[in-house]
Amino acid sequence: MYLVTGATGSLGRRIVKQLRSDDQLTRAFVRLSSKFGELSDRGADIFIGDLKQERDIEKACRDINYIISSHGSGNDPQALDYRANIDLIDQAIANNVEHFVFISVLGVDRGYEDSVTFKAKREVEKYLINSGLSYTILRPSGFANNLIPLAERFRDTGIYLSIGEQKNRSSIVSTDDLATIAIASCQIEAAKNQIFAVGGPDSLKREDIPRIFSRLFDREPIVINPPLQLFDGLRAGVGLINPQLNKSLGTLRTLLAHEFYCTPEEIFRLESTFAIEMESLESFLRRYVGQS
Ligand SMILES: NC(=O)c1ccc[n+]([C@@H]2O[C@H](COP(=O)([O-])OP(=O)(O)OC[C@H]3O[C@@H](n4cnc5c(N)ncnc54)[C@H](OP(=O)(O)O)[C@@H]3O)[C@@H](O)[C@H]2O)c1
Repeated sequence: MYLVTGATGSLGRRIVKQLRSDDQLTRAFVRLSSKFGELSDRGADIFIGDLKQERDIEKACRDINYIISSHGSGNDPQALDYRANIDLIDQAIANNVEHFVFISVLGVDRGYEDSVTFKAKREVEKYLINSGLSYTILRPSGFANNLIPLAERFRDTGIYLSIGEQKNRSSIVSTDDLATIAIASCQIEAAKNQIFAVGGPDSLKREDIPRIFSRLFDREPIVINPPLQLFDGLRAGVGLINPQLNKSLGTLRTLLAHEFYCTPEEIFRLESTFAIEMESLESFLRRYVGQS
């Protein structure tokens, strides 16, 4: 039995879908407030709980062989990115779980102090590595599904809004491929006790994205490119009224200000370990929103 946290999220939903189409016993950790009908229809065992509640985590981990931690942080990274993962690891140990897959983030080891999420994920990685559990840590770049609404807006308006340096590179990863890799990590020997950078095959500059949209929808892009300083100014203004919101914008600021791409060697290691050919962003978008 697999336990998937964040089962209603972009990644978790795909993990549950793939597990169930392979007839694997799957427990989906969901909140009552979320839409989980599709997961239930696919035959997942629905566990309703809140990852902020240690008792829910304790119950969800009973009789589980594999845990795939793929939940997000909402607006509480201390409780969800950090504490919930520590509790999941502790319960994995208590229940003799065979393998633990943790979805971290590319660049987690660069010491970005402005992002609580990056710091939490780094601390969880260390805790997992020292836990004695069999583990795989996946450090993905940005998910391709994030671009679906941007592509849809582009299709309708031709407008593409992109903040910050246009030469910054990113290896946007197919969220479907990441789900496949997360599941395979539980079975492939060479993935045990390993950390993988996970990205798409191309390291794309931000300015490449509207070009991809342009090819997909056959229209000229209107690119709006405010500088990062504008974001910083707005953030500082917000901070005067709401210091907490200012703090939680730290992760977005980190993502906007830096490059998150994989080297060809990292992609080669990923593709050879998991026997997968990583899908390009263009192919992913064509499948979900493309016309041709
Ligand atoms: N998105 C990216 O580009 C990206 C890049 C690198 C790494 N990651 C990491 O990948 C993971 C998955 O990201 P994602 O984009 O798929 O996340 P997402 O779509 O934002 O989904 C977050 C999931 O966590 C669940 N969740 C939040 N608070 C919860 C709580 N208190 N109790 C139970 N469940 C809770 C949400 O449930 P509800 O449906 O109830 O809200 C949802 O299922 C995250 O760890 C993220 O940090 C993401």
